[in-house]
Amino acid sequence: MWESRADRGMAKIHIVGAGPGSPDYVIPAARKVVQKAAVVIGAERALNLFSEDIKGEKIVLTARNFQEVLDKAIKLAENGLEVTFISTGDPCFSGLLKTFSRLLGEEADINVIPGISSVQVCAAKLKISWDEAAIISLHEGVNEHKKRELAQAGLAGKPLIILPDLKTFPPREIARFLMGEGIAGESLAYICENLTLDDERIIQVPLKAVESLDHKSLCVMVVKPLKRDEV
Ligand SMILES: C[S@@+](CC[C@H](N)C(=O)[O-])C[C@H]1O[C@@H](n2cnc3c(N)ncnc32)[C@H](O)[C@@H]1O
Repeated sequence: MWESRADRGMAKIHIVGAGPGSPDYVIPAARKVVQKAAVVIGAERALNLFSEDIKGEKIVLTARNFQEVLDKAIKLAENGLEVTFISTGDPCFSGLLKTFSRLLGEEADINVIPGISSVQVCAAKLKISWDEAAIISLHEGVNEHKKRELAQAGLAGKPLIILPDLKTFPPREIARFLMGEGIAGESLAYICENLTLDDERIIQVPLKAVESLDHKSLCVMVVKPLKRDEV
């Protein structure tokens, strides 16, 4: 049986989930790994969630320094130091795991601690069984394949839980696209902003009203689709 170094408790690079933003949603297993790390790396907001736990060096990760920091982390880990990256939400959903797998290969010796995803919090708030929903991340941008996936799931009547890309495919464009594909403008849509944070806000409107909304905050969009000929 293949056994990873992580399973034997020897992994040197860890990725831990930070949850959607509130310290109440950080799991104890993630805090324990951070407490043991010689180096902790993450976006400023993610590092702040662990400020009481960090005992080692702290490195702020940005889109610009990513490769440089990763190279440094690999060297430190090879020299026997515990290095921990913090990923928002769950690292395995549109998170750092994908980036690591792409750069280091799927078999890279990494220990992953899950986190509570923004998708889970959104599903809980709206009481959606997410095993019955279509969960679609557009965070890395949109393409024809993603659009087809979205339209097909919508026409099949599945609740759509979407991470929009505010730059290239924001909620208003998603609404316009779905209505163009035959989803009724009367379908219920929800924009769940800043989940778990003090300024959390959930807006419920008919899909057609999303067309005129302008969003700047972190959000998950949900649509409970009805076909045009059903209304
Ligand atoms: C790079 S993805 C990371 C997703 C993360 N791994 C997860 O499991 O939630 C970032 C996107 O997640 C969503 N997101 C993350 N935190 C959120 C929050 N507190 N409230 C609403 N949406 C959030 C937003 O759509 C944001 O653009």
